[in-house]
Amino acid sequence: MTADPRDLMPAVLSLKAGLGRLDLSRGLGIVPGPGCEAPAELLRTWLAADLPATVVQAQLASGEGVPVLRLGLEAGLVLPSPPGAPEEARREAYRLDLGPGGGSLVAGWVEGLFRGAACLRQLVLSAVSAPGEGLPAIAACRIEDSPRFPWRGLMLDTARNFFEPAFIERLLDLAALHRLNVFHWHLTDDQAWRLDLPGLPELARLGGRRLDRRYNVERWKTGSYSAADVGRIVAYAAARGITVVPEVETPGHVVALLSSHPELSCAAAMAGPGASVQFSPEDRYGIFEDILCAGNDEVFALLDKVFEGLCALFPGPWVHVGGDEAPKARWRECPRCAKRREALGLGPDEAGLESLQAWFMGRVGSLLAARGKRMLGWDEILDAGVPGAGSMAIPADALVMSWRGYEGGAAGARRGHGVVMCPQTKACYLDHKQADRPGEAGQLGVCTLRDSWSFEPVPPGLGPEEEARILGGQANLWSEQLYSESVVEYMAFPRLCALAEAFWRPRARGDYQAFLARLEVHKARLDRLGVNYRKALSD
Ligand code: ACM
Ligand code: ZN
Repeated sequence: MTADPRDLMPAVLSLKAGLGRLDLSRGLGIVPGPGCEAPAELLRTWLAADLPATVVQAQLASGEGVPVLRLGLEAGLVLPSPPGAPEEARREAYRLDLGPGGGSLVAGWVEGLFRGAACLRQLVLSAVSAPGEGLPAIAACRIEDSPRFPWRGLMLDTARNFFEPAFIERLLDLAALHRLNVFHWHLTDDQAWRLDLPGLPELARLGGRRLDRRYNVERWKTGSYSAADVGRIVAYAAARGITVVPEVETPGHVVALLSSHPELSCAAAMAGPGASVQFSPEDRYGIFEDILCAGNDEVFALLDKVFEGLCALFPGPWVHVGGDEAPKARWRECPRCAKRREALGLGPDEAGLESLQAWFMGRVGSLLAARGKRMLGWDEILDAGVPGAGSMAIPADALVMSWRGYEGGAAGARRGHGVVMCPQTKACYLDHKQADRPGEAGQLGVCTLRDSWSFEPVPPGLGPEEEARILGGQANLWSEQLYSESVVEYMAFPRLCALAEAFWRPRARGDYQAFLARLEVHKARLDRLGVNYRKALSD
């Protein structure tokens, strides 16, 4: 069939129809200019996967008469951009011209070429999705496109359930198809520590297996990512213009870490010298009181070794250090934490304990800063509430991930931090149910397709300077109930399509009915890729 560029997902910023169409029945040659090899290679990989084998063979055999797409980088190229989009987002702008002879994909930066390649892949998938309806072709067009936000993320929790590297690569491919550019990899939690770091084998050996007692059956869910796995996944992401942000939870959500290092708990300090305390990775879900002891310098010595290994594996600029849901019950009782508090001049009240967490996060942040990395944390890292409080403050350049709602993001932006918005309140939590119906899969809340599509990443009430600190949004896949790869896909799609659009489009969001009509076309692309999206029509 002839693919229609009006059906792209997310919708593009500017589209003009051209004359004729690009016939794909003899294939499409990809010709990169200088600096364009990586997106050209990605396009060749995608075309080989998506075009029928006969077309690929015909292209290889003939060469002659095959339409050609030229990729080019043009310094200083000016393209339209959504109002208020920051300079950083303009790096992803591109122009895609398609017509009977092939066409061109040009951008000012290579990032833009990856986004344009994703658009072309969607059009190719549509062209081949209804083989009975004529030759595979794309209606001639000029697309000029650019995102509103520079951070368009997807988080996968690989602690509660383990996912094979090949499935993570599949998700990265699907993220790239929707023009997302960040993969946030949740690697550690109470239930498991999944990162097998050179020199620290005990972390994954003891922490990388959790009991699963569902259905009255006890079985160990084991799995961790080796340095080689991480290297492959980071390279796979980079080949799609996606940055990987690893997350190591501190000071809470660490029971699996304590299973290999019980001496770092407050319980060990409270038990006294020579007494033994033990932990196993949690097989329950929830929030647990055993967190890292703030009074024990060995905690920071171990984290420093963890970051040494981790920073060697993840080349991106950010490392997520958690910070969420850290109950203070142990810190309140622990003699070592009391000593630390007193040394810092903090009281034993709630404010003092929250400030102790700010100090803790600040110290973790400085370990990263020493390695040239920026810290990122859940919005609890702001709870101490004292900007400029010297050693009790998180680093000024820390990024805040606003998950409890919009308030953390607004507070972070007011205090000068960069902010990523992923509120669980009816928008970005893809573990929530997709419909408020008995029997619908999901946990903890309801987030419909329309909720996700309606998401506005900028919290209300911010001035222009503060608004500029909102870097974008993120979809979060918590995996307590994601028992298999196909369940991940069911929960992610089609809401991820809606969120990708919410992170890309200009503020004036358009029309939900038009989105639904485009989604119908897009579903044929997902079908072609075998994605197990939720098929029910209503919320
Ligand atoms: C979170 O959902 N606890 C960040
Ligand atoms: Zn302690």
